Amino acid sequence: MVMTLIAFEGIDGTGKSTQAKLLATWLEQHKIPYLLTQEPTTDFYGKLLRKRLKDANSDPLGDACLFALDRSHHYYDIILPAMMEQKIVLTDRYIDSSIAYQSIQCANFFPNQKLAIEWIRQLNQVPEANLICLLDTDPNISVKRRTQETAIQDLEKFEHTEFLMKVRQVFLNQATSDKYIILNATLSIEELQTQIQNHIVKHIPHTNFK
Ligand code: TYD
Repeated sequence: MVMTLIAFEGIDGTGKSTQAKLLATWLEQHKIPYLLTQEPTTDFYGKLLRKRLKDANSDPLGDACLFALDRSHHYYDIILPAMMEQKIVLTDRYIDSSIAYQSIQCANFFPNQKLAIEWIRQLNQVPEANLICLLDTDPNISVKRRTQETAIQDLEKFEHTEFLMKVRQVFLNQATSDKYIILNATLSIEELQTQIQNHIVKHIPHTNFK
């Protein structure tokens, strides 16, 4: 059985959700069964995380554990059942988000970044995605985009340029295998979507895209 999980990753404000939704519409047009889902989930642990994302004082190690717990629930209760039904699953954020954000958030608890990343990988024992679309841009641009669309008091705790600079670097450092496509998020929405679709037609053997 072919199981396909495609993750959209990147710092805040890169347009991941837009690209995931457009890809879902495209699959729909091709009558290919899919599930579009996201992290944090909208379920119990995801709701707890949403609260913690507004609380600059919540403990970083606890955040890392809670993201992993939400992800385990997401994989086993939502993603896997959909893949068993032969759906292509598109997830807006997955393991790489924890590797990138929590390794920076938890940096003070570890002697170096490598050990922080190792600990976060250990926590996240769910299977990896088959394809990871990493939307990459300078945080100066993405944070500006976010502050134009969201009131300052509604921004979540990670949405700061300095923090996101470090997070971006971890995302890029991790994207070494051919599972990753790194996309320049400053391109137009249409151009990005075309690049993603072209990649999927070539590399996802799931079904024929006519
Ligand atoms: P985000 O995708 O931005 O949700 P929304 O667009 O609905 O606000 O995710 C919220 C925040 O959570 C974002 O700043 C990234 C952070 N995050 C982590 O730090 N670790 C994780 O594992 C995940 C999934 C998200």
